[in-house]
Amino acid sequence: MGENTAVKWILFFFFPALFIYGLLHVYSSKPAQAKRTKDLTAQEEAGRKVYNKFCVGCHGVNGDGQSEAAKFFKDKPPNFHTAVFRWKSTPEGCLPTDEDLMHILNWGLPQTPMPSFKLVPEVQKRAVIAYIKSFSDRWEKGQPDHEKCQSVYRKIKRPVNFGSPELIAKGKEIYAQNCTACHGEQGRGDGPLASTLPVPPTDLTYPVRAAGPNPEDTFRVLTVGLEGSPMPKFDFLSEEDRWALVSYIAYLMNKGK
Ligand code: HEC
Ligand code: HEC
Repeated sequence: MGENTAVKWILFFFFPALFIYGLLHVYSSKPAQAKRTKDLTAQEEAGRKVYNKFCVGCHGVNGDGQSEAAKFFKDKPPNFHTAVFRWKSTPEGCLPTDEDLMHILNWGLPQTPMPSFKLVPEVQKRAVIAYIKSFSDRWEKGQPDHEKCQSVYRKIKRPVNFGSPELIAKGKEIYAQNCTACHGEQGRGDGPLASTLPVPPTDLTYPVRAAGPNPEDTFRVLTVGLEGSPMPKFDFLSEEDRWALVSYIAYLMNKGK
């Protein structure tokens, strides 16, 4: 981790996480008690305690995203009962992988209220993942299609010319044709459609991505989209074109404001 990354980490994760942790304590007085047809397993029961400590304030007593805190958020917490996840590495209609959920807990979703739980012990995070899965029986049935629902990370390979001036220039052109309507000409999330959308388009000049720290994470968003949000998938563009876009986004992130 370079000095710059460390500073960014502190600025963009640690302070917001600390703030949110405080906020959480204000809202976490009510314990979660979902209506269920089945008893919880021992791991799910352990996860329920973790949930009541760290998550209930925003995600709601019943895991449906209805909480006092959520009323103040532009990015609304998901409804765990429908098990439709935005931030995952599997295609539309698929469940996220456990790695996807663990990744969200460790990294958080910067630029949204969802904090990082990097410092919470792994076993507690595994338990809370089991608990949020217990809200929907989609998980019991498993992936609807094992072949189609594999994580796209398996296939992603960063090209050697990633970030080259040529690829950035190409990315800029493809961006102008496909992305400005929502993300704006400069990538600041202020395109003409922005105010009509239920979720604000991401400011792509912000130096940290919600999807994750690596260019592969941004490539994944372009490949599978963000299910249930206005952000479409761009799998109709060639891999080279998607890498050109990721190069351009990395350039916008480093350029700063
Ligand atoms: C301060 C509020 C807050 C706290 C605390 C919080 N979350 Fe979140 N969480 C959110 C919001 C808001 C989103 C939606 C962000 C978005 O997609 O734009 C979210 C998103 C998520 C997602 C991703 C959903 C998707 O669509 O992919 C998961 C999984 C999640 N939270 C789990 C948890 C767990 C587990 C905890 C407790 C350990 C927790 N969250 C604590 C606010 C919070
Ligand atoms: C119809 C509007 C729309 C279009 C067109 C669109 N986006 Fe998005 N995009 C969004 C919205 C809204 C979000 C935030 C979604 C959320 O938080 O759930 C988003 C999120 C993203 C993210 C995730 C950011 C992060 O921090 O991880 C990336 C990357 C992205 N868009 C890139 C692009 C690129 C590149 C294009 C063009 C090829 C594009 N988008 C076209 C609406 C759009």
